Amino acid sequence: MSIDKKLSQLERELDALRRKVKGIEDLKVASEVFDKATLLTLYELANKGYIDLLYGVIKTGKESNVFLAKDSDGKPLAVKIHRIATSDFRAMTKYIEGDPRFTGFRRNRRGIVYTWVRKEFKNLERAYLNGVRVPKPVAFKNNVIIMEFIGSDSTPSPMLKNVGLSQPEEFFRDLLANVKKLYCRANLVHADLSEYNILVKDDLPVIIDLSSGVVREHPYASEFLHRDIANLVRYFRRYFPVDYDEVYNYITSCGGEGGVPEDS
Ligand SMILES: Nc1ncnc2c1ncn2[C@@H]1O[C@H](COP(=O)(O)OP(=O)(O)OP(=O)(O)O)[C@@H](O)[C@H]1O
Ligand SMILES: [Mg+2]
Repeated sequence: MSIDKKLSQLERELDALRRKVKGIEDLKVASEVFDKATLLTLYELANKGYIDLLYGVIKTGKESNVFLAKDSDGKPLAVKIHRIATSDFRAMTKYIEGDPRFTGFRRNRRGIVYTWVRKEFKNLERAYLNGVRVPKPVAFKNNVIIMEFIGSDSTPSPMLKNVGLSQPEEFFRDLLANVKKLYCRANLVHADLSEYNILVKDDLPVIIDLSSGVVREHPYASEFLHRDIANLVRYFRRYFPVDYDEVYNYITSCGGEGGVPEDS
């Protein structure tokens, strides 16, 4: 096929996508987020039946946009789209390099962002399989992840940072049990854990944003774990006294906690 023909075919496909992923035109951020490659990615995910309707922005962040979508049964989903152009891809390298799951990734901007997204999906899978309360991963491709929507109806659950907890001790205990499972069973350190990446649903924590997460063998894993725990300790001291060492020892005492074996 000639280049011209290929291009016009691509244009037709993009038009089809704009129609196919219903609601996309209404989204203000459309032009900024949905470059052609992202449109094609969404098109493929819609074609495979993962998403039917894309209809609201949950959050526009520095590097990603999270949308509310629905599948063909009308079940809500969260679609996280990582922007390529504004990503701090140099900073990402520190969290990819040294993780044995991701060797030989392409070191250009796009290659790093795609690896970053694949890492978030793999981390979500591992965490979910090991019983950590995270959004259930559904599918990913390139810079797009589809996962369970955390919220009720179409309203997303709030971030911990915006919630006054009525039972902070219980919440903290549950949160630490989840972080311990993440560490001992899923073999992961979150590496960006704070009140910003914990949602509160039905008074319980849901851990999100696992893109930074590394396996325990990663050269910076212990540095990241210290930072994660320090963030939690700092935050919960507004409610009651918390001892860093006690929390650290609890999370890292993994006796008898066998995890699901490595997938990829
Ligand atoms: N599965 C989900 N269900 C409901 N809301 C979600 C979900 N995932 C993310 N969100 C919302 O979107 C926000 C951003 O998501 P996330 O933390 O994963 O991205 P981010 O990488 O921190 O974005 P950025 O760094 O670009 O600001 C979250 O704070 C949360 O409010
Ligand atoms: Mg976040």
